[in-house]
Amino acid sequence: MADVVITEVHGKVGLIRINRPEAMNALNNEVVDGITAAVDRFEADENIGCMVLTGSEKAFAAGADIGFMKEFDYMHAYKIDFITRNWERLRTARKPVIAAVAGFALGGGCEIAMMCDMIFAADTAKFGQPEIKLGIIPGAGGTQRLPRAVGKAKAMDLCLTARMMDATEAERAGLVARVVPADQLLEEALKAAATIASYSLPVAMMVKESVNRAFESSLNEGLLFERRVFHSTFAVQDSKEGMSAFVEKRKPAFKNR
Ligand code: CAA
Repeated sequence: MADVVITEVHGKVGLIRINRPEAMNALNNEVVDGITAAVDRFEADENIGCMVLTGSEKAFAAGADIGFMKEFDYMHAYKIDFITRNWERLRTARKPVIAAVAGFALGGGCEIAMMCDMIFAADTAKFGQPEIKLGIIPGAGGTQRLPRAVGKAKAMDLCLTARMMDATEAERAGLVARVVPADQLLEEALKAAATIASYSLPVAMMVKESVNRAFESSLNEGLLFERRVFHSTFAVQDSKEGMSAFVEKRKPAFKNR
């Protein structure tokens, strides 16, 4: 049987590809555990500076596997800590992660894309939270991350009507960082990831941590956090290298220190 999650290393970029084409990349335990293992591996690899999570041309992921979930009762979901147990590993990644989305990103598919740091969408991408059609609600952050990304009006619209949003609308609404032609999606995502990975890794991690803090704090607290992290960058050797390289009109050689 083919691996449901495939990993590749492209220079300093770790690529994670969901590969369950017969089920539109629906997310069962095997897939989510595979993503978790891949994130663990790339987080631990000092040579990796950024990750890209992608699916296929047709589907990034069409949500949690409905056939698998259909047998759950409350006690089972609670006891296994469904979603929290393994899906959240993407959220806790400290290195930047780009979601490269083509085709359907529905339900849990849209939710794992939103756990990433930014979404690049192919012009074929379709985002949605159609759980209400199944008699359930978005359960992997959809009701929380979607309104933060697109505001209450569109989040309510998508979660309550179950309609899909195309890539253009998703970019206009602020869910998506860039829309690119489908045949250039992976190339563009890998290029952006390589750019990120060319910078100092600890500094990229500090940028990610600081931007994420904006969603967890008041402006004053967020600014205080940013200022402390900013001051700490003067203790990062790569900051000396970056600024010296600019002044000396040469390329910096970052050492991730
Ligand atoms: N779970 C399990 N199987 C799925 C699936 C899912 N989420 N999505 C698609 N599949 C399967 C289909 O059952 C079908 O399998 P068979 O060939 O064996 O019949 C195969 O993938 C191809 O799908 P379709 O024939 O339906 O393809 P389509 O092009 O007509 O439609 C689609 C594509 C619009 C994505 C449609 O498949 C669909 O609506 N899928 C379900 C989307 C959904 O409801 N997602 C939310 C899941 S719940 C959730 O995610 C909870 C959470 O918050 C964590």
